[in-house]
Amino acid sequence: MLYQNTDFYVQHHEVVLTVLFDIQISDNWPGYSLDLFTYPQHYYGDLEYVLIPHGIIVDRTERLAKDIMQDIGDNDIVVLCVLKGGYKFCADLVEHIKNLSRNSERFISMKVDFVRLKSYHNVLIVEDIVGTGRTMKVLLNNIEKYKPKMIKVASLLVKRTSRPDGYRPDYYGFEIPDLFVVGYALDYNEHFRDLNHICVINDHGKAKYRV
Ligand code: HPA
Ligand code: MG
Repeated sequence: MLYQNTDFYVQHHEVVLTVLFDIQISDNWPGYSLDLFTYPQHYYGDLEYVLIPHGIIVDRTERLAKDIMQDIGDNDIVVLCVLKGGYKFCADLVEHIKNLSRNSERFISMKVDFVRLKSYHNVLIVEDIVGTGRTMKVLLNNIEKYKPKMIKVASLLVKRTSRPDGYRPDYYGFEIPDLFVVGYALDYNEHFRDLNHICVINDHGKAKYRV
């Protein structure tokens, strides 16, 4: 009897776990209530829920910084930030790489550039979100003309689209459902860049900022 109960509990627990937060955010992930966090008052009533809280973004970015540092070894890199959506992620990623490198044996020299190209050796492209990957493929084609020694792509988000041949960046923070998201520098018609958390906007928000 006791075992049966335990089994049931374990099974039930596993079902619950499938909708819990992961790097692969599932389509049925309900997000966090907006009441749990703070966010700018001018966006009250414009958002549906918090998809990824700011703290988790920053912590995940720190881990990506560690992975990137491990892979680039002793090579110096040039960081290319794809504006404007990429600036928050880029700033935090570079800050984490600097901090990690300050506390390690080797120091990695880093120059940050905003898509102005010369002949670089190692390039890290930093992007906010990759959807179909069409934009990224064009950018990669352009950068490959400069024959860099190494070229890596880090994107905070990858959107699950219906295209199975979708481009995969070398590093990414989260895979998200096919939703329109804002915050942490991602915008809707230039609004919501000042929101810390990554959120889903509601119909009211869409109507308010429609152009
Ligand atoms: N939000 C903001 N910008 C974007 C998105 C998104 O979901 N997808 C592509 N660009
Ligand atoms: Mg972008």
